[in-house]
Amino acid sequence: MNSEEIREKFLEFFEKNGHKIIPSSSLIPTDPSVLLTTAGMQQFKPYYLGEKSPYGDKVCSVQKCFRTSDIDEVGDERHLTFFEMLGNFSFNNACSKKEAIELAYEFITKEMELEIDYVSVFGGEGNLTADKKSEEIWKQVDSSLEVKKFGKEDNFWGPTGDEGPCGPTTEIYVNGIEIWNIVFNEYYKNKDGKYERLETLGVDTGMGLERLAMVSQNKNNVFENDLFEPIMQAVSNNRIIADHLRGAVFLLADGITPSNLGRGYILRRLIRRVMAKGFGDKMENIADIVIENYGNFYPELEQNKNNVFEEFKKEKEAFEKTLEKGMKELQKMGQKISGEQAFLLFSTYGFPLELIKESVKEVDEASFQKEFEKHQELSRTASAGMFKSGLAGHSEQEIKYHTASHLLLAALRKVLGESVSQKGSNITPERLRLDFSWSEKLTDEQKTQVEKLVNEKIAENLSVLREEMTLDEAKNSGALGVFEHKYGEKVSVYSISDFSKEICGGPHVENTCVLGKFKIIKEEAVSAGVRRIKAILE
Ligand code: SER
Repeated sequence: MNSEEIREKFLEFFEKNGHKIIPSSSLIPTDPSVLLTTAGMQQFKPYYLGEKSPYGDKVCSVQKCFRTSDIDEVGDERHLTFFEMLGNFSFNNACSKKEAIELAYEFITKEMELEIDYVSVFGGEGNLTADKKSEEIWKQVDSSLEVKKFGKEDNFWGPTGDEGPCGPTTEIYVNGIEIWNIVFNEYYKNKDGKYERLETLGVDTGMGLERLAMVSQNKNNVFENDLFEPIMQAVSNNRIIADHLRGAVFLLADGITPSNLGRGYILRRLIRRVMAKGFGDKMENIADIVIENYGNFYPELEQNKNNVFEEFKKEKEAFEKTLEKGMKELQKMGQKISGEQAFLLFSTYGFPLELIKESVKEVDEASFQKEFEKHQELSRTASAGMFKSGLAGHSEQEIKYHTASHLLLAALRKVLGESVSQKGSNITPERLRLDFSWSEKLTDEQKTQVEKLVNEKIAENLSVLREEMTLDEAKNSGALGVFEHKYGEKVSVYSISDFSKEICGGPHVENTCVLGKFKIIKEEAVSAGVRRIKAILE
């Protein structure tokens, strides 16, 4: 069965069973707490919470989804950034657990004629009780099926964003991979992290089309299915390039344009990675293939075709200019390039190491690697949602957020007192997050004071200085150290005038003036005695 037939079969099956077919929503989500649409349920989120659904209480869709959280896995057998998700959804008790499980079972075994390896249910964890009901239902549906019980990590889903409906899941495994996630929305997770029972049961299922096509077409990985084949051929079977270009075409068709912020930044990095790997000339060809193969089902591709090509062209030109500037820098550096210089070319101009090696006589690769790892240290502290190595123009935004985190910590200590210490930090290209010791909710006035202080320091155009010293010297100089055990004998200390001084692996911006406007978007509790601030630079 080809992918087009699978989509159709899925929608027909659920329509026949009382579900209204709803078109995919845009990759620009209606849910403001996420950057991109990551799940089919997002366009229906309010209907799980009592708002009346204009489509009735049972719907189904094939939804365009984009997950940056899986980007490091792209290239393995089954992970993608962009994917299509088949889903059925019900609100207001319209579908019982029994009906949802029976429908899923019938679709997989009868319609798709696939054999289920096993299913899993939520075995309970902490205050969240085990889903005994689903276990019983599976036993009734097919007594020969093995029902495994897993914890929260595997069998509890949601919410998308910071708050919303969520609940235990039951999942179906075929050919060794999870293909269908059936979520029972029984809870509402609120901003403080508490789970409240919802008044009615909601059903939210999601099955990746690419995975289903892979198992049904007996392929070994998602890149071998019928929809990927022509794309893979055009890019010499480079999985990452195939994934990124297909994703970029869909993002562009939904009106996202490459930029240095938010969604635009995600898109820019996909495209620049493609170009840095030497596939820039394939972009138009892939756009044609994607539009041709997906255009029937997603008419927006055809409608926005010109935009897609136009933006690819613009981004190519922008990247070429950056490359040109980088080349000039490189020439200035001479024939012998230090690790730091190579890293600067990599992080600021998007120069892959290979390109540098081709252009000069000697590159200190070992120390490039060290610089790179130092940067990775920063990356590792960051959560899902952020990009890691290998992307051109890689770190500019994260570096800004990193420096802003130092300013924030210093400002908190000025406003709340010197007892405040850092408890954790997490940076993505979209925002910074800082956990710090403090037991009460910050008042509006305190938040305003902190913001004001950070913005004052930004406006003062302060240089960020880096010094190397021993750990003892650093401590004696009054530098704050959060992760000091991670460092070697010599540590780097970054100071921003006399306002902030921290032991830190870097990297940082050279001057605070490039940071833009600092804004706190959220302040919340993490655990007893620890608060969390999320902030952005505008
Ligand atoms: N929302 C769940 C998921 O994304 C099921 O649709 O897996």
